[in-house]
Amino acid sequence: MNIVVLNGTPVKGITYHMKEMFLSHMRDKNQVTEFYPKDFPPFCVGCKACFLRGEEKCPHYNLMEPIWNATLNADLLVFAYPVYALRAPASIKSVLDHYCVHWMAHRPEPEMFEKTAVIITNSVGAPNGSAQKDVKTSMSWMGVSKVYTYGVGMMGDIFWNEIKDKNRIMLERKMESLANKVTIVKPRRRKSLKVNMFFLMCKKIHKSALKSETELSLDTKHYIKHGWIKPRTLKS
Ligand SMILES: Cc1cc2nc3c(=O)[nH]c(=O)nc-3n(C[C@H](O)[C@H](O)[C@H](O)COP(=O)(O)O)c2cc1C
Repeated sequence: MNIVVLNGTPVKGITYHMKEMFLSHMRDKNQVTEFYPKDFPPFCVGCKACFLRGEEKCPHYNLMEPIWNATLNADLLVFAYPVYALRAPASIKSVLDHYCVHWMAHRPEPEMFEKTAVIITNSVGAPNGSAQKDVKTSMSWMGVSKVYTYGVGMMGDIFWNEIKDKNRIMLERKMESLANKVTIVKPRRRKSLKVNMFFLMCKKIHKSALKSETELSLDTKHYIKHGWIKPRTLKS
């Protein structure tokens, strides 16, 4: 299986080692492609070219294209990042913002419906839920039905080389157990209830947009191309 990893920090610290522990159970049988913040696009400039003229018109397309192609080819998407200000760090958020054109509200790719995602996070002590939700929300809106998460407050440990033995052992166990859950990821045949609900809602929006658009938007054309809505019949 193809695994794509988005690492939210360049530091070889706790996040990096959690992710390495997780991948150590998967590397031999799978193809792993990793991206780090140095590979990520800068912040979205808000030009909206992706929505209106095509994602290849994005000023950061050269950086986003390899990440998007790898995302599309992946069976398993792994996000590994530290909690910053109780949320996902800006590095990850920058990729999520560039993913927006592929939300179901715009131009979702059918391949996304089959994928599984894993989110691995840690903080010095705060709950990780809100930080994980940043990625989970994007995954749902892009059509990913199954998202596994593991997050931990490290109770004061902030440097890998000073980590308490009991915490390192605990992380090893947790990462092995997470890896066991996703060792064999089969393409999902059915959308989850939530993803299906979002999709039906977006289909309805695009169907109604089709009636009023004098010139079809890229989003509407995309929905027609995939057979999700029927092209309108022109009056003679
Ligand atoms: C800018 C910044 C913001 C942080 N915000 C939080 C926070 O809101 N809550 C928390 O518990 N830890 C916070 N931390 C601590 C990190 O989550 C923690 O030290 C980090 O996950 C350790 O992983 P690493 O070794 O991979 O960097 C913050 C750290 C940094 C650098």
